[in-house]
Amino acid sequence: MTVEHFFIGANSLRLGKKVGKGGEGEVFLIQGRPNFAVKIYYKNIRSKRKNKVHALVKSKFYENTELIAFPQEILTDASGEFVGFSMKLVSEHYPMHELYSPKSRKTHYPNVDYRFIIRAATNVARAVATVHEKGCVIGDFNHSGALISKKATVALIDADSFQFTFLGANYLCEVGMPEFTPPELQGASLRGLYRQASSDLFGLAVAIFQLLFMGRRCFSR
Ligand SMILES: Nc1ncnc2c1ncn2[C@@H]1O[C@H](COP(=O)(O)OP(=O)(O)OP(=O)(O)O)[C@@H](O)[C@H]1O
Ligand SMILES: [Mg+2]
Repeated sequence: MTVEHFFIGANSLRLGKKVGKGGEGEVFLIQGRPNFAVKIYYKNIRSKRKNKVHALVKSKFYENTELIAFPQEILTDASGEFVGFSMKLVSEHYPMHELYSPKSRKTHYPNVDYRFIIRAATNVARAVATVHEKGCVIGDFNHSGALISKKATVALIDADSFQFTFLGANYLCEVGMPEFTPPELQGASLRGLYRQASSDLFGLAVAIFQLLFMGRRCFSR
């Protein structure tokens, strides 16, 4: 079996436990760096994401925020090829749907009351506002990207898919879940689309409704 070696600059690092996977890559702990994680993209995604992640790191969006897991350092393989990035580890937070679905709420958030849910909802709104203050748009806002702790604090992940502008170039978010997509973009192609921050606010409103009404969708009958 070959063991892959990864580097941040000249420093080699050893991966720890896998903490998650998505449609674009896998997320691991880093041995000896307890507050950090790395996302390693699947091979077919790497060349597509390379420029965007370099621009995100250079933009230093990760500074002054504990709430949002922005890419912080570039991760390469032994031949110096781009494979992913490091970011803050988000621990002891669960995806928003774990709070609004009554069954998983009992497991992860026993004894929470409605005040907790309102606090969590306002913290989701604050996290979205922080992204907008940095000049980014989430684009693919959805219930898996916003994580909520047992203290109702909120962290956002998948920040490498956010839309932003760096040195005059627009880096887009070309995906989105229909449920959280505003009416004006329903059915439209998201390819090449530059989004307004207001499109996140529609998704935020849908998510807050779900939180406050135990998963009920605002447009369902
Ligand atoms: N900073 C982080 N700290 C801890 N866990 C994380 C972090 N980022 C991601 N994860 C975990 O890894 C999983 C996959 O991450 P993410 O959604 O960013 O991957 P992705 O491949 O870009 O997915 P998508 O297809 O939704 O874009 C998450 O659901 C979460 O469990
Ligand atoms: Mg992603």
